[in-house]
Amino acid sequence: MGQGKLDGRVAIVTGAAAGIGQAAAIALAAEGADVTLADVADCGDTARRITELGRRTLAVKCDVSNGAEVRSMVDQTLEAFGRLDCAFNNAGTAGVADQVVHEADEDDWDDVLATNLKGVWLCMKYQLPPMLAQGHGSIVNGASAASMIGIANNGAYIASKHGIIGITKTAALEYAAQGVRVNALCPGPTRTAMMARFLPALPDGVPVDESVYANMVPIGRMADPAEIAHSVVWLCTDDSTYMTGHAFVIDGGLLSR
Ligand SMILES: NC(=O)c1ccc[n+]([C@@H]2O[C@H](COP(=O)([O-])OP(=O)(O)OC[C@H]3O[C@@H](n4cnc5c(N)ncnc54)[C@H](O)[C@@H]3O)[C@@H](O)[C@H]2O)c1
Repeated sequence: MGQGKLDGRVAIVTGAAAGIGQAAAIALAAEGADVTLADVADCGDTARRITELGRRTLAVKCDVSNGAEVRSMVDQTLEAFGRLDCAFNNAGTAGVADQVVHEADEDDWDDVLATNLKGVWLCMKYQLPPMLAQGHGSIVNGASAASMIGIANNGAYIASKHGIIGITKTAALEYAAQGVRVNALCPGPTRTAMMARFLPALPDGVPVDESVYANMVPIGRMADPAEIAHSVVWLCTDDSTYMTGHAFVIDGGLLSR
Protein backbone atom coordinates (compact mmCIF):
# COMPACT_ATOMS: atom_id res chain seq x y z
CA MET A 1 0.00 0.00 0.00
CA GLY A 2 1.03 3.62 -0.56
CA GLN A 3 0.98 6.61 1.78
CA GLY A 4 -2.62 7.72 1.11
CA LYS A 5 -1.56 10.65 -1.08
CA LEU A 6 -4.65 10.11 -3.26
CA ASP A 7 -7.12 9.39 -0.45
CA GLY A 8 -10.56 10.70 -1.43
CA ARG A 9 -9.48 11.31 -5.02
CA VAL A 10 -10.93 9.80 -8.19
CA ALA A 11 -8.94 8.72 -11.23
CA ILE A 12 -9.68 7.48 -14.75
CA VAL A 13 -7.27 5.09 -16.46
CA THR A 14 -7.78 4.15 -20.11
CA GLY A 15 -6.31 0.93 -21.43
CA ALA A 16 -6.63 -0.42 -17.89
CA ALA A 17 -7.24 -4.08 -18.78
CA ALA A 18 -3.56 -4.93 -19.17
CA GLY A 19 0.03 -3.78 -19.25
CA ILE A 20 1.03 -0.28 -18.17
CA GLY A 21 -2.60 0.84 -17.70
CA GLN A 22 -3.39 -2.05 -15.38
CA ALA A 23 -0.26 -1.43 -13.30
CA ALA A 24 -1.06 2.30 -13.09
CA ALA A 25 -4.68 1.73 -12.06
CA ILE A 26 -3.57 -0.59 -9.25
CA ALA A 27 -0.83 1.83 -8.14
CA LEU A 28 -3.28 4.76 -8.07
CA ALA A 29 -5.70 2.67 -5.98
CA ALA A 30 -2.88 1.61 -3.66
CA GLU A 31 -2.23 5.33 -3.07
CA GLY A 32 -5.90 5.80 -2.11
CA ALA A 33 -7.79 6.67 -5.31
CA ASP A 34 -11.07 5.22 -6.53
CA VAL A 35 -10.54 4.34 -10.18
CA THR A 36 -12.59 4.09 -13.37
CA LEU A 37 -11.15 1.45 -15.67
CA ALA A 38 -11.84 2.20 -19.34
CA ASP A 39 -10.93 -0.26 -22.07
CA VAL A 40 -12.31 -2.10 -25.09
CA ALA A 41 -11.16 -5.27 -23.32
CA ASP A 42 -12.48 -6.75 -20.09
CA CYS A 43 -11.09 -5.04 -16.98
CA GLY A 44 -12.35 -7.69 -14.55
CA ASP A 45 -8.88 -8.74 -13.38
CA THR A 46 -7.82 -5.14 -12.72
CA ALA A 47 -11.12 -4.42 -10.92
CA ARG A 48 -10.75 -7.47 -8.67
CA ARG A 49 -7.22 -6.45 -7.67
CA ILE A 50 -8.35 -2.90 -6.85
CA THR A 51 -11.31 -4.15 -4.82
CA GLU A 52 -8.85 -6.27 -2.82
CA LEU A 53 -7.05 -3.03 -1.95
CA GLY A 54 -10.29 -1.69 -0.44
CA ARG A 55 -10.84 0.96 -3.10
CA ARG A 56 -13.94 1.47 -5.24
CA THR A 57 -13.70 0.82 -8.95
CA LEU A 58 -15.91 1.13 -12.03
CA ALA A 59 -15.18 -0.81 -15.22
CA VAL A 60 -16.51 0.80 -18.41
CA LYS A 61 -16.31 -0.65 -21.90
CA CYS A 62 -15.04 2.32 -23.89
CA ASP A 63 -13.32 2.81 -27.22
CA VAL A 64 -11.28 5.99 -26.72
CA SER A 65 -11.55 6.88 -30.41
CA ASN A 66 -15.34 7.22 -30.05
CA GLY A 67 -16.44 10.57 -28.62
CA ALA A 68 -19.86 9.37 -27.44
CA GLU A 69 -18.29 6.46 -25.56
CA VAL A 70 -15.63 8.66 -23.94
CA ARG A 71 -18.25 11.21 -22.89
CA SER A 72 -20.40 8.45 -21.39
CA MET A 73 -17.39 6.96 -19.56
CA VAL A 74 -16.60 10.32 -17.93
CA ASP A 75 -20.30 10.87 -17.09
CA GLN A 76 -20.48 7.42 -15.47
CA THR A 77 -17.39 8.27 -13.41
CA LEU A 78 -18.99 11.45 -12.12
CA GLU A 79 -22.25 9.63 -11.33
CA ALA A 80 -20.43 6.86 -9.46
CA PHE A 81 -17.84 8.88 -7.58
CA GLY A 82 -19.02 12.52 -7.77
CA ARG A 83 -15.70 14.02 -8.86
CA LEU A 84 -12.65 13.58 -11.10
CA ASP A 85 -9.16 14.49 -9.90
CA CYS A 86 -6.76 12.70 -12.22
CA ALA A 87 -6.62 10.79 -15.46
CA PHE A 88 -4.06 8.57 -17.17
CA ASN A 89 -4.93 8.55 -20.88
CA ASN A 90 -2.89 5.50 -21.71
CA ALA A 91 -4.91 3.38 -24.18
CA GLY A 92 -2.90 2.76 -27.31
CA THR A 93 -2.22 0.48 -30.21
CA ALA A 94 1.01 -0.27 -32.04
CA GLY A 95 -0.70 -0.81 -35.39
CA VAL A 96 1.02 -2.76 -38.13
CA ALA A 97 4.75 -2.47 -37.68
CA ASP A 98 7.29 -3.14 -40.44
CA GLN A 99 5.83 -0.69 -42.94
CA VAL A 100 8.01 2.03 -44.44
CA VAL A 101 6.22 5.32 -45.07
CA HIS A 102 5.41 4.88 -48.77
CA GLU A 103 4.09 1.34 -48.24
CA ALA A 104 2.05 2.06 -45.10
CA ASP A 105 -1.61 1.11 -45.10
CA GLU A 106 -4.16 3.95 -44.99
CA ASP A 107 -6.62 2.06 -42.75
CA ASP A 108 -3.82 1.29 -40.28
CA TRP A 109 -2.77 4.95 -40.24
CA ASP A 110 -6.36 6.01 -39.47
CA ASP A 111 -6.76 3.36 -36.76
CA VAL A 112 -3.49 4.20 -34.98
CA LEU A 113 -4.03 7.96 -35.11
CA ALA A 114 -7.67 7.57 -33.98
CA THR A 115 -6.80 5.50 -30.93
CA ASN A 116 -3.49 7.03 -29.87
CA LEU A 117 -3.90 10.72 -30.72
CA LYS A 118 -7.60 11.46 -31.20
CA GLY A 119 -8.29 9.23 -28.19
CA VAL A 120 -6.08 11.36 -25.95
CA TRP A 121 -7.75 14.54 -27.20
CA LEU A 122 -11.27 13.10 -26.69
CA CYS A 123 -10.42 12.00 -23.17
CA MET A 124 -9.13 15.48 -22.28
CA LYS A 125 -12.16 17.09 -23.96
CA TYR A 126 -14.53 15.37 -21.54
CA GLN A 127 -12.25 15.18 -18.47
CA LEU A 128 -11.36 18.86 -18.41
CA PRO A 129 -14.81 20.38 -17.65
CA PRO A 130 -15.27 18.65 -14.27
CA MET A 131 -11.64 19.37 -13.37
CA LEU A 132 -12.04 23.04 -14.28
CA ALA A 133 -15.26 23.23 -12.24
CA GLN A 134 -13.34 21.86 -9.23
CA GLY A 135 -10.39 24.16 -9.87
CA HIS A 136 -7.86 21.37 -9.86
CA GLY A 137 -6.84 18.24 -11.71
CA SER A 138 -3.91 16.34 -13.15
CA ILE A 139 -3.94 14.69 -16.58
CA VAL A 140 -1.19 12.32 -17.68
CA ASN A 141 -1.19 11.43 -21.37
CA GLY A 142 0.42 8.16 -22.40
CA ALA A 143 3.12 8.97 -24.92
CA SER A 144 6.41 7.10 -25.48
CA ALA A 145 10.15 7.41 -25.75
CA ALA A 146 9.16 7.13 -29.42
CA SER A 147 7.63 10.60 -29.03
CA MET A 148 11.19 11.98 -29.08
CA ILE A 149 12.84 10.19 -31.98
CA GLY A 150 12.13 8.68 -35.35
CA ILE A 151 12.05 4.89 -35.51
CA ALA A 152 11.96 3.23 -38.90
CA ASN A 153 9.04 1.09 -40.07
CA ASN A 154 6.18 2.26 -37.83
CA GLY A 155 5.44 5.82 -38.94
CA ALA A 156 1.80 5.97 -37.82
CA TYR A 157 2.73 5.01 -34.25
CA ILE A 158 5.69 7.41 -34.11
CA ALA A 159 3.59 10.26 -35.55
CA SER A 160 0.76 9.60 -33.10
CA LYS A 161 3.14 9.61 -30.13
CA HIS A 162 4.81 12.84 -31.29
CA GLY A 163 1.36 14.38 -31.64
CA ILE A 164 0.51 13.56 -28.02
CA ILE A 165 3.37 15.81 -26.89
CA GLY A 166 1.93 18.67 -28.96
CA ILE A 167 -1.60 18.43 -27.60
CA THR A 168 -0.22 17.94 -24.07
CA LYS A 169 1.86 21.13 -24.17
CA THR A 170 -1.05 23.04 -25.71
CA ALA A 171 -3.50 21.91 -23.04
CA ALA A 172 -0.96 22.63 -20.28
CA LEU A 173 -0.74 26.26 -21.47
CA GLU A 174 -4.50 26.62 -21.80
CA TYR A 175 -5.35 25.37 -18.29
CA ALA A 176 -2.29 26.09 -16.12
CA ALA A 177 -3.83 29.21 -14.56
CA GLN A 178 -7.01 27.29 -13.72
CA GLY A 179 -5.37 24.62 -11.59
CA VAL A 180 -5.28 21.77 -14.08
CA ARG A 181 -1.90 20.27 -14.92
CA VAL A 182 -1.28 18.27 -18.11
CA ASN A 183 1.84 16.19 -18.68
CA ALA A 184 2.87 13.36 -20.99
CA LEU A 185 4.58 10.17 -19.83
CA CYS A 186 7.12 8.64 -22.19
CA PRO A 187 8.09 5.07 -21.30
CA GLY A 188 10.90 3.16 -22.91
CA PRO A 189 10.58 -0.56 -23.72
CA THR A 190 8.25 -2.09 -21.12
CA ARG A 191 7.35 -5.75 -20.61
CA THR A 192 3.73 -5.91 -21.89
CA ALA A 193 1.69 -7.76 -24.50
CA MET A 194 2.24 -4.89 -26.91
CA MET A 195 6.01 -5.28 -26.74
CA ALA A 196 5.84 -9.08 -26.84
CA ARG A 197 4.51 -8.72 -30.39
CA PHE A 198 7.83 -7.21 -31.45
CA LEU A 199 10.09 -9.66 -29.67
CA PRO A 200 11.65 -12.65 -31.42
CA ALA A 201 9.47 -15.74 -31.14
CA LEU A 202 11.00 -18.59 -29.17
CA PRO A 203 9.79 -22.22 -28.93
CA ASP A 204 6.66 -22.92 -26.86
CA GLY A 205 7.18 -22.59 -23.12
CA VAL A 206 10.32 -20.47 -23.42
CA PRO A 207 9.98 -16.84 -22.30
CA VAL A 208 10.10 -14.33 -25.15
CA ASP A 209 13.57 -13.15 -26.05
CA GLU A 210 14.00 -9.68 -24.55
CA SER A 211 17.72 -9.50 -25.29
CA VAL A 212 17.24 -7.17 -28.27
CA TYR A 213 15.81 -4.50 -25.96
CA ALA A 214 18.05 -5.36 -23.03
CA ASN A 215 21.06 -4.63 -25.25
CA MET A 216 19.53 -1.37 -26.47
CA VAL A 217 18.77 0.10 -23.02
CA PRO A 218 21.68 1.29 -20.81
CA ILE A 219 20.01 -0.17 -17.69
CA GLY A 220 20.19 -3.52 -19.51
CA ARG A 221 16.60 -4.68 -19.33
CA MET A 222 13.04 -3.76 -20.22
CA ALA A 223 10.94 -1.91 -17.64
CA ASP A 224 8.38 -3.65 -15.52
CA PRO A 225 4.96 -1.92 -15.89
CA ALA A 226 5.00 -1.17 -12.14
CA GLU A 227 8.12 0.98 -12.64
CA ILE A 228 6.18 3.15 -15.10
CA ALA A 229 3.14 3.22 -12.81
CA HIS A 230 5.11 4.88 -9.97
CA SER A 231 5.68 7.90 -12.22
CA VAL A 232 1.98 8.10 -13.09
CA VAL A 233 1.18 8.21 -9.38
CA TRP A 234 3.75 10.95 -8.78
CA LEU A 235 2.31 13.07 -11.60
CA CYS A 236 -1.20 12.64 -10.14
CA THR A 237 -0.35 13.54 -6.53
CA ASP A 238 0.33 16.93 -4.97
CA ASP A 239 4.04 15.99 -4.94
CA SER A 240 4.20 17.32 -8.52
CA THR A 241 2.16 20.53 -8.22
CA TYR A 242 4.74 22.64 -10.13
CA MET A 243 5.00 20.18 -13.01
CA THR A 244 2.97 20.86 -16.14
CA GLY A 245 3.46 20.85 -19.89
CA HIS A 246 6.30 18.36 -19.92
CA ALA A 247 7.11 15.08 -21.52
CA PHE A 248 8.33 12.92 -18.64
CA VAL A 249 10.73 10.32 -20.05
CA ILE A 250 11.28 7.08 -18.13
CA ASP A 251 13.42 4.93 -20.38
CA GLY A 252 16.30 3.25 -18.54
CA GLY A 253 18.66 5.76 -20.16
CA LEU A 254 17.68 4.83 -23.73
CA LEU A 255 17.54 8.39 -25.08
CA SER A 256 20.79 9.39 -23.37
CA ARG A 257 22.85 7.45 -25.87
N1 LIG B 1 5.10 -1.40 -23.70
C1 LIG B 1 5.96 -0.48 -24.08
O1 LIG B 1 7.14 -0.74 -24.24
C2 LIG B 1 5.49 0.95 -24.29
C3 LIG B 1 6.48 1.92 -24.46
C4 LIG B 1 6.10 3.23 -24.66
C5 LIG B 1 4.75 3.56 -24.69
N2 LIG B 1 3.82 2.58 -24.53
C6 LIG B 1 2.40 3.00 -24.57
O2 LIG B 1 1.80 2.62 -23.36
C7 LIG B 1 0.41 2.42 -23.58
C8 LIG B 1 0.01 1.06 -23.01
O3 LIG B 1 0.70 0.06 -23.73
P1 LIG B 1 1.00 -1.39 -23.16
O4 LIG B 1 2.38 -1.72 -23.54
O5 LIG B 1 0.57 -1.50 -21.75
O6 LIG B 1 0.05 -2.23 -24.15
P2 LIG B 1 -1.03 -3.34 -23.90
O7 LIG B 1 -1.37 -3.84 -25.26
O8 LIG B 1 -0.59 -4.31 -22.87
O9 LIG B 1 -2.27 -2.51 -23.30
C9 LIG B 1 -2.97 -1.59 -24.08
C10 LIG B 1 -4.41 -1.54 -23.59
O10 LIG B 1 -5.11 -0.53 -24.35
C11 LIG B 1 -6.37 -1.07 -24.73
N3 LIG B 1 -6.86 -0.40 -25.93
C12 LIG B 1 -6.36 -0.48 -27.18
N4 LIG B 1 -7.10 0.25 -28.03
C13 LIG B 1 -8.08 0.83 -27.28
C14 LIG B 1 -9.15 1.70 -27.57
N5 LIG B 1 -9.38 2.15 -28.83
N6 LIG B 1 -9.95 2.11 -26.57
C15 LIG B 1 -9.74 1.67 -25.30
N7 LIG B 1 -8.75 0.82 -24.96
C16 LIG B 1 -7.94 0.41 -25.95
C17 LIG B 1 -6.10 -2.56 -24.96
O11 LIG B 1 -7.30 -3.31 -24.91
C18 LIG B 1 -5.14 -2.87 -23.82
O12 LIG B 1 -5.82 -3.25 -22.63
C19 LIG B 1 0.19 2.55 -25.09
O13 LIG B 1 -0.28 3.84 -25.40
C20 LIG B 1 1.58 2.36 -25.65
O14 LIG B 1 1.74 2.98 -26.90
C21 LIG B 1 4.15 1.30 -24.34
